[in-house]
Amino acid sequence: MVRITILYYSNFRGQTEKLALAIQRGAQRVPGTDVQLLRVEDAESHWQRLHDSDAIVFGSPTYIGSVAARFKQFIELLSGDVWLKRMWVNKVAAGFTVSAGRSGDKLNCLQQMVIFAAQMGMIWVPVRLLGGNYSSQGSEDDLNRMAGYIGVMAQANIDEPAEIAPPPSDIRTAEIHGEHVAEVTRALVAGRRALAAEAAPAT
Ligand SMILES: Cc1cc2nc3c(=O)[nH]c(=O)nc-3n(C[C@H](O)[C@H](O)[C@H](O)COP(=O)(O)O)c2cc1C
Repeated sequence: MVRITILYYSNFRGQTEKLALAIQRGAQRVPGTDVQLLRVEDAESHWQRLHDSDAIVFGSPTYIGSVAARFKQFIELLSGDVWLKRMWVNKVAAGFTVSAGRSGDKLNCLQQMVIFAAQMGMIWVPVRLLGGNYSSQGSEDDLNRMAGYIGVMAQANIDEPAEIAPPPSDIRTAEIHGEHVAEVTRALVAGRRALAAEAAPAT
């Protein structure tokens, strides 16, 4: 069984949570994958789940061009044993964000997540989909319509509820990324097990 935890914050309209659910649906398509959602507000009661995860997917809305303060507040707790004792080295990491603006400075938010993961020695998985909405033939219905590769970039109109924003193209993009992260994680876990078996003395 491969364990994935989606660690996220969502406050304003629940739009990041909608993406978290999409990432979870996608990851669950990969056989043998246990995927759980974990809000950062609850994370301090679930350290063991995080430590036992093969992959952690970070999700935060872009607030003032950055990860949300509450999300960062939890991340700063990693500067204790998780960082010092290298507890999360070689875990898989990935990320997603949503903002109201087409840019909204989402890139900075995702870059921050990459740095958090790098400081913990994690292995970052980028989006495998080609960027959409690139040409006169493109549209907002394209997958990866924000053409982001570092992580899932979604956009949600500020005056619309989570039922309709972000739109289906972004939700589907998040599902595909969830599936991709689960596939990469499964391959890594299987490879490590095979190497460990190879190295074990014959009985
Ligand atoms: C405090 C705050 C700051 C925000 N800053 C930005 C921003 O810098 N750029 C942007 O495009 N949208 C910004 N927004 C809009 C949110 O990114 C957007 O509504 C997002 O979908 C909210 O996600 P949530 O419902 O999961 O909290 C901001 C919203 C709030 C409440």
